[in-house]
Amino acid sequence: MTKAGGMGGWTLDDIPWDRFDRSRVDPELVRIVKAAALVEHNGAAYAHHLCRIFADDPEFQETARCWGEEEVQHGRALARWARIADPNFDFERAFARFQDGFQVDFDAAESRRGSRAGEMIARCIVEVATSSYYSAMREAADEPVLQEICRHIAADELRHYRLFYKNLKRCLRYERLGRLARLKIALGRIAESEDDELAYAYYAANGDERPYERRYYSRAYAGRAFPMYRPHHIERGVAMLLKAVGVMPNGRIGRIASGLAWRTMRYRARRLTKAAA
Ligand SMILES: [Fe+2]
Ligand SMILES: [Fe+2]
Repeated sequence: MTKAGGMGGWTLDDIPWDRFDRSRVDPELVRIVKAAALVEHNGAAYAHHLCRIFADDPEFQETARCWGEEEVQHGRALARWARIADPNFDFERAFARFQDGFQVDFDAAESRRGSRAGEMIARCIVEVATSSYYSAMREAADEPVLQEICRHIAADELRHYRLFYKNLKRCLRYERLGRLARLKIALGRIAESEDDELAYAYYAANGDERPYERRYYSRAYAGRAFPMYRPHHIERGVAMLLKAVGVMPNGRIGRIASGLAWRTMRYRARRLTKAAA
């Protein structure tokens, strides 16, 4: 395997682990870092799914496999940091629990989004979300090693977005998928992440003994993640989303959309804080 096992050009050895500073660890961030480690580590299963969807496209399959390895590496870096921050964290056990409970048919040869272009839109959205997420986490974190991990990962996620966007453009050459249909897929994918994947990862990672309850755990997750965001994260995320949907992100529509997204997020964050109090 080449250095980094992919295109990112970094490995776990590039992280300055010896700079870890326990006094600057925020225990609430540790909880969501653990959840993120599980979702990222599932990247290999998703790469397999992409290879099934693009069964006649060995070039894209190769890209998808490299992408999957990079996601797995994100999971490893985050898991390692979480274990330093909390030596009781049992990553293997948590990951087994996550895989058991969060079931997606990764062997399906058809995308749930109805087409290849639809699948690429959903992938773009996930990369938009993760690149904003790690940028926001880097700025919110005080612990220098976590900052460094987030910096590396956020750069990868941005590159992943470009990679899927490029493939989306290619798919759209032979598939008809209007802007409204694209927007529906994009918004549907956002709703889905809020629904289950992250909530379940949070549940699996934090080892609570109580049974899984979606509403409770999606609040527990979002109540810790949402406050990290600042307007510039949302603006950039909305611009990337609009671009994937085929709307020019500059100008009035972009401003209106990011204003709306920001207010929605603040409103939801406030409600979550109230619910937790
Ligand atoms: Fe990732
Ligand atoms: Fe990614």
